[in-house]
Parts: sequence; C-alpha cells; structure tokens
Amino acid sequence: EGNKLWGGRFVGGTDPIMETFNASISYDQRMWDADIRGSKAYVKALHKAKLVTQEEMEHIQKGLDQVLGEWASCTFQIKPGDEDIHTANERRLKELIGEAAGKLHTGRSRNDQVVTDMRLWLRDAFTTLKGNTIQLITTMVERAAVEINILFPGYTHMQRAQPIRWSHWILSHAVALSRDVEQLEEIRKRVNVLPLGSGAIAGNPFNIDRELLRKELNFDGISINSMDATGQRDFVAEFLFWGSMCLMHLSKMAEDLILYSTKEFSFIRLSDAYSTGSSLMPQKKNADSLELIRSKAGRVFGRCAGFMMVLKGLPSTYNKDLQEDKEAMFDTYDSLHAVLQVATGVMSTLEVNQKAMEAALSPDMLATDLAYYLVRKGMPFREAHSCSGKAVYQAESKGVPLNKLTVEDLHTASTLFDSDVSSVWDYTSSVEQYSAAGGTAQSSVTAQIEHMRAWLKVH
Ligand code: ARG
Repeated sequence: EGNKLWGGRFVGGTDPIMETFNASISYDQRMWDADIRGSKAYVKALHKAKLVTQEEMEHIQKGLDQVLGEWASCTFQIKPGDEDIHTANERRLKELIGEAAGKLHTGRSRNDQVVTDMRLWLRDAFTTLKGNTIQLITTMVERAAVEINILFPGYTHMQRAQPIRWSHWILSHAVALSRDVEQLEEIRKRVNVLPLGSGAIAGNPFNIDRELLRKELNFDGISINSMDATGQRDFVAEFLFWGSMCLMHLSKMAEDLILYSTKEFSFIRLSDAYSTGSSLMPQKKNADSLELIRSKAGRVFGRCAGFMMVLKGLPSTYNKDLQEDKEAMFDTYDSLHAVLQVATGVMSTLEVNQKAMEAALSPDMLATDLAYYLVRKGMPFREAHSCSGKAVYQAESKGVPLNKLTVEDLHTASTLFDSDVSSVWDYTSSVEQYSAAGGTAQSSVTAQIEHMRAWLKVH
C-alpha cells in the first residue's frame, strides 16, 4: 500500500473505484499554501518539544519550502495515491528530503490538520470577500450621492406605493450589505481559532506548545476541547449561511433591476458590458449578469442546506462525511467572489433614465399625501384615510386622475378640502415630507449617505 498514510494494518488493496471515491485531492489541493504553512509551524513546535533536532527542523522546513515553490510555480505533480492535500505534501516532502519527513506528523492527525488548513484558508477568503463587499457598497453609496435628486415610484406588493428617491432605493440595498460585512467580521472571530495540537480526537501527547503554534499561524485563540475542535464544522456552516444571506440580499436587488430594465419600465439601462444577446432575436439585450446573480442565491442556499443535512445526525468527532465540507466552502466562496464583483460592475455602469422614472409617477401615488393634508387640517388619520379612499374611488369611477378632481368633487369626501389642496400634487414636496431619520427626504437620504461613508471609513 505504497504511499498511503495508513497502509500498515492493511493487506488487501483498495478498489480503484473506492480510491477515487475516497479522494479529495481534486479540490482540497486549493489549500496547498495553508497546509504547508501549518506544517512549517508544527515542525517548530516539534523542535521545541525536542522531537526533532535543530538540523532535522531546518531540513524539513527547507523541504516544505521546496514543495511550496512547486505549488506556486504550478509544477507540483499529483500522483496516484495522493488521497488529499495532506498526503500529497507529505509524500512529496519524503521524496525531497527522505526519512526525516516521517517525523513531521508526530502527534498530529489529518483531523486537526484539515481544520487548521480550512480555517487558515477561510480567513484569507474572508479578507477578499469583505474587500469585494466594501467595494460594492462604496460604488452604491457614491452613486446614491450623485443621483440624489432623481425620484421614481416605490412599490410594495409590487404595486405602486409612494414616490421615493432613487438614491433611497440604492441605499436600502447598501445598508443590507453593510450588515453582511459586519456578520462576516463576527464569523471571522470564531473561524480564527487554532485547532492544531488536537490530534485525532484525544489531544496531543508530546506537550506541544500550542501557544507557539497560535502565534506562528496568527490565530486569535486556541481551541478549548480536542474533540470539539476536530469534529465540528459549525464554522463552515456559518460561512455557508453567510453566503446565503448575502446572496438573498443581492438577488433581491438583481430582481428589482431586471424589472426596471424591461421596456415596460425603462427605468434603467444595463451596460453592454454586463448584458448578452440572443442568438435568434437580434433586438434582444438580456440582463444575464443580474439573472446569474439571482441564480447563485439558489445554488448557495443549496450548498448550505446540503451541508446541514450532512452534519445532521453525525456522531461526535471526525467522520469522513465531514470531507464534504470543502466543496461547499469553495463553491460558496467562488460564487460570492464572482457575484460581488459583477454586481459592482453592474452598479457602476448602469444608466438611469430619469425621464422615464419621473414619468412613471402618478397622482394616485399621492393618495396618502391627500390623507395627510386632512390630518394637517385636524382630522384623525383613520377618518382621513377613508376620505382619501373615497376620493380615489370617485376619480376611478369618473375616469380622471386623482389630481383632476375639483374641490367640489372632493367635498363629497370631506368639506375640509380647500383650493390649497393643489399643493398636494407635487412629487418633490411629497418626498420632502419624509424627513424623519431613515426617510426619503433629501436631508434624510443625505444623512444616510453620510452615515454609510462614516461606516465605510471604519470597515
Ligand atoms: N481529506 C480528509 C478530509 O477532508 C482529511 C481528514 C482525513 N481524516 C481521516 N481520519 N481520514 O476530511
């Protein structure tokens, strides 16, 4: 059983189909750098514990650097029997430096090694994803600042609701994304804990200095219990949920934009750079970028739910089922990494059709304002709502827009209506009423922009 790290007690060979089934090298090779970093730290701890001499340590470290160089220059050759990244690196190290390589794994198990690798890898992935999200938020906030004067219809239940600022819409999504960044920072704290030194289940018998390992690998803390450290993948599940939540936010935004980009709405035009055409219909310009963003939400939700199913019902400590964690983790990372960059591209290049947006506003969207007009004349809101509703009904039955009802018409709804009701029919003054914090008035949207700029400065 040549290269196998576990061949000793075996006499029979592995069925080739089992060999392939069992192997994770095709995807876990992505952690080559983390795996070698972990080993370089571990050999230092072995030296401190007097398990390897100074000379052996240097020998092993030089060898590890050579393996690292092969990966970095894409010359590392994966061989049959390289079950996973840990096996492959140790096999190569032995080829390069000989028997001394056999001391590296003293007291270590792939069970503590693999989670150490994953935590190191994920830590770097978080830095990248945070940067991608911050870039998207920055693009959106600055766009909101430039286009603050553009008004358009706001919808609830997909029905025309109230006039709002376009910037208010942009910021609604940027604010959600800022919570994703904060959540990622939160998860990072739990990811950045060192499991190395936990062995397979019971811990490390050689008085390994885990504090030394922590410092070497730049972890914030040391895992408390070796069974928990090797058997739990909650940190992976948290990341998959993070990806799901972030994509839920982005697919909502994408869905709005797809709708706004239709001929019927014509609120926005997607840049050619983020659209594709039809092989049959020459006129088509499809929002494929946004559709793919929307679809990745489904894909990543599936990764999260699928991995939770793997975890459900497992006994404690390491079971091979846990090997499924990596494809879910890598795929979620790749999806988010691409989506966030494409979304940034879309948001920085789309064109807004201010005319179409403002033309889409209609007086019925001011029915609430008509009720507030009565409230300002002293009427209780409940009653004002009903009076405004009557006016809406009247306009509908007469077949005229709400603002074309005469004061006499309005008097059948309430005698409090006067000629000054004409002031209601102004979209700009309508949005300006919403000046309480969080609202769509210019002052309030400006405050949101300032809030987000300040938030960006500290993230
Ligand atoms: N490739 C394995 C994984 O990803 C490494 C850990 C193997 N441990 C074991 N006891 N077989 O989970």
